[in-house]
Amino acid sequence: MIRVRTLTHRYGDSSGESDGGGGGGSGSGGGGVAAVEDVSLDVADGEFLLLAGPNGSGKTTLVRHFNGLLDPDAGTVEVNGRPVAEDVVAARTAVGMVFQDPRDGFVAATVGADVAFGPENLGLSHEEIDRRVDDALAAVRLAGKRDARIEELSGGERERVAIAGALAMDPDHLVLDEPFTGLDWPARQAVLERLDDLHSSGRSVVVVTHDLRDLVSRADRVVVLSRGRIALEADPADVDPDRLADLGVRPP
Ligand SMILES: Nc1ncnc2c1ncn2[C@@H]1O[C@H](COP(=O)(O)OP(=O)(O)O)[C@@H](O)[C@H]1O
Ligand SMILES: [Mg+2]
Repeated sequence: MIRVRTLTHRYGDSSGESDGGGGGGSGSGGGGVAAVEDVSLDVADGEFLLLAGPNGSGKTTLVRHFNGLLDPDAGTVEVNGRPVAEDVVAARTAVGMVFQDPRDGFVAATVGADVAFGPENLGLSHEEIDRRVDDALAAVRLAGKRDARIEELSGGERERVAIAGALAMDPDHLVLDEPFTGLDWPARQAVLERLDDLHSSGRSVVVVTHDLRDLVSRADRVVVLSRGRIALEADPADVDPDRLADLGVRPP
């Protein structure tokens, strides 16, 4: 379980915005506008959660707290019962994260080496690493690209390498931040099917998106952020399309 309590995150001390007059009424102490403000959220084991909201609503900031990539200004995050702040390594092992823009996230020159990097750091046998890399690449339809150089790949292929890297870690919780941006339809379907597999094997899956197509039917719950706060939390069957549109989310 990922457990977030009264989480607030502000960037910088006073980034460019002079935010002068005080007021604001958010009751915050530090400078700057909160990108995430007073958010409490549980991701249950085995849950498929959609985290939606328009650009700038705080989605990326929120999920970057799930494995300690950011430190809270206030509030706490626990993963599988352990505070992330106390054990970032455990959080990173338990929570796989696929970033919005993987261009800078690669650690190796070739596809296979990049996907193997995480499993190598888990101290697995060579056979097990090999098997995981093969399985993960097959899952994202890149089985033939193991020896390809990442710099030669298209944007959509790179996105899939990033997803394969997270799959190869076999995490308890997988978080994908806008994973479909550069993907064509077959690749998108392949990734969705793999997410279904993970979900049915008991992993929790968090998909961050501003576009709910194909996703609502899969999800157990939809959470919509607006200006850093949770504006809507609902069973997908009960989500009102007009309400979504009001919050800046394209209805499915
Ligand atoms: N590195 C950063 N430095 C300063 N402000 C940031 C940074 N990243 C995001 N922000 C701001 O925080 C808010 C939330 O951004 P973000 O979490 O990226 O939202 P989303 O993922 O929903 O688009 C936005 O106002 C954004 O401009
Ligand atoms: Mg984002």
